Amino acid sequence: MNRRRRVYEGKAKILYEGPEPGTLVQHFKDDATAYNNRKQDTIEGKGVLNNRISEYLFQRLGEIGVPNHFVKRLNMREQLIREVEIIPVEVVVRNVAAGSLTERLGLEEGTQLPRSIIEFNYKSDELDSPMVTEEHITAFGWANPQEIDEMMALALRINDFLTGIFLGIGIRLIDFRVEFGRLYENDMLRIVLADEISPDSCRLWDLETKDKLDKDRFRRDMGGLVEAYQEVARRLGILIDNRPVDRKGPVLVKSN
Ligand code: TMP
Repeated sequence: MNRRRRVYEGKAKILYEGPEPGTLVQHFKDDATAYNNRKQDTIEGKGVLNNRISEYLFQRLGEIGVPNHFVKRLNMREQLIREVEIIPVEVVVRNVAAGSLTERLGLEEGTQLPRSIIEFNYKSDELDSPMVTEEHITAFGWANPQEIDEMMALALRINDFLTGIFLGIGIRLIDFRVEFGRLYENDMLRIVLADEISPDSCRLWDLETKDKLDKDRFRRDMGGLVEAYQEVARRLGILIDNRPVDRKGPVLVKSN
């Protein structure tokens, strides 16, 4: 069997060369990190759940015309994606105060924001992805003003759509982080949503109990991370039941 060429390995994912030029295989690991790798662990089953949840959300977003890199899911941990040139800027959308915003501005966690707020971080592990402004992004050539406008417009559409999807299943979308890439199609250059959208990259709270159903459970040593991600998947209708997922052996898949 040929070994696949590893194109990139990040904290929670590996990218392999895809079967055709212009494609990649995105592999979801069970590894979890926080605080710029100062906290690390392996949480069995996380990668499988993120693969499924991200597949579902990218497909739904594709259906409303949000261009994205997703092609198809290949197996429990992997999806086929289109290769894009990643813009080195993380786009964060916030609806409710939490995480670094509460620390920066001294806001109480859970405070509803007057409107959705977009922030940018420069994608750099060495620098702990510092927050930057549009001035930095254009001055250093990470993206041009048109691309920034496009990313902001897409981020707000994604926010509106995901807020609705999650509200429908009793979950409040507090904030999330997305990445975009450039996709060259013939002479056309398009900005497309890339990376993943999963409980690793969102804050999701149960609407009634305010229970955290996201990676903050890991960041704050609360435990129950896989159970929380399973609950999100179950409510989205993409888990048949609550059986543990991805035991290492073969799994019999029944078709009905
Ligand atoms: P923050 O409050 O820590 O700045 O995070 C904002 C959002 O971005 C939150 O939904 C979690 C997500 N996020 C990531 O996906 N990756 C990261 O490395 C960090 C720091 C945050």
